[in-house]
Formats: sequence, C-alpha cells, structure tokens
Amino acid sequence: MRTAIMAANWKMHKTAAEAVAFAEAFLPLVAEAADVEIVVAAPFTALDRLGRALDGSAVALAAQNVNAEPQGAFTGEVAPGMLVELGCRYGIVGHSERRSLYGESDATVASKALALLAAGIRPILCVGETLEERESGRTLEVIGGSLAASLAGVPGERADELVIAYEPVWAIGTGKTATPQMAQEVHGFIRSQLAERFGDSAESMRIQYGGSVKPDNVAEIMAQPDIDGALVGGASLDPDNFSKIARFAQQES
Ligand code: 13P
Repeated sequence: MRTAIMAANWKMHKTAAEAVAFAEAFLPLVAEAADVEIVVAAPFTALDRLGRALDGSAVALAAQNVNAEPQGAFTGEVAPGMLVELGCRYGIVGHSERRSLYGESDATVASKALALLAAGIRPILCVGETLEERESGRTLEVIGGSLAASLAGVPGERADELVIAYEPVWAIGTGKTATPQMAQEVHGFIRSQLAERFGDSAESMRIQYGGSVKPDNVAEIMAQPDIDGALVGGASLDPDNFSKIARFAQQES
C-alpha cells in the first residue's frame, strides 16, 4: 500500500513572510488529514522561515531545485547540504520549467537526484511530454527515454526514496488536465519501466500526477490505480485550495 503524497510546488511565488502566513492558515486545515503525506516546495528564500513554521507538523519542507555539487564556485547556486540544514526532506529535480527554460538535460537531472540522495533528501523527479510529442504519438517513447536517463546511476536499494512526477507539459498552468485515463496510461507505463529498472521496489514507489490539479478534479485523478499523489502548482498557493487537495480522500465529509 503506497501512502499518497500531495506536494505543493509554489514556483517563484511567495516571500518568506507570505510563506509563514500560508503555514499559519494551512496547518489547522490539515491537522486531521489522514493517510497522506503533505509536502510544500518553496523558493529558497522562504525555506528557513517556512521550515520553522512547519516544525512539529506533519507537513514536509521541500526545495524546488538544487546544485549537484557539494560546494564551490557556482555563483547563485544552492548545495544539497544547505537544504539539509534547513530541514528539507524532499527536493524537486527536472521540473519541465527547469528543463525548458534553463536547459537542464536528463544527465543534469540524474546528477541532481544522486546528489540529493547522497545528502539524505528524497528527490521528486519530474518527466513529461510536450503537446507536439503527444500529438505525434511519441508520449511513451519520450517518457521512457527521459525517465531512464534521469534515473541513471540511482542504486536499486535507494529506489523507494524517489518520487516520480508525471507532468504533461501541455497541462501545466493551462487549465488543461490529462483525463484520468490518459494519466493512468502513462503512470502504468512508468511503473512498468520502474519495474524493469528496480524490480519489486517499483510497487512501493510513488508516482505523482501534475498539471492543473484542482480541488474539483483531484479525487478522480487519485482514483487511478497507479496515481499515488499530485504535484500542484497554481492551486497550491491558496491554503484553502491546497488543503482540499491534500484531504482529497475526505472531500465528501
Ligand atoms: P499547475 O498546477 O499550475 O498546472 O502546475 C503544475 C506544476 O508544474 C507543478 O509542478
């Protein structure tokens, strides 16, 4: 049985003070949330104060990016150890915005995932196809290739610390969501690829869906057998909305 993992990716939103205000409003709303792991990935500048605000709660702190090197002359970059000290338990790597806007390759993503694992931080590793790739019938080929290359060097015994996020690029911030069936097809494929790579560990690995997840579509997405969580952008910025998403299983009550 895989514990659902619902993660906020705030992207370049919220100052440190705004992040603390979010935590103060959000934590009471999810105090009763059961059988779900909740994660918030904030900008680097908000991690320290947000981490303090979340301390003692069940909500885990995450970074949105990391440099693969432990230290050095890399102006503007942040090393894994710096995130450990702030209490980060997860780190997003390979988000499509980093791949497309900042030129991150699968090899870069793999090195970042390995660096996080070495520091004891769990990577949330993102893959996804563009609209053009989907329309030309290459979705599974693209996802399979990107996944394999982004997992290069990950040792099998660490596999279950990884979270994979499937985020179709055409569904991010567009209001277009993959239908639950479309998402399940890719999630099932990802799990089969993970099984080839990691064997039985694939059954315990969590695969999140991301792309215009909202309170009103989360339940049908989460009902799919190979969808184990969500990575949420826009709808995670509001405490009320994100709490509804995090408590998807209790929505009826
Ligand atoms: P939206 O939820 O805003 O579509 O963003 C998805 C995403 O990119 C999360 O990482």
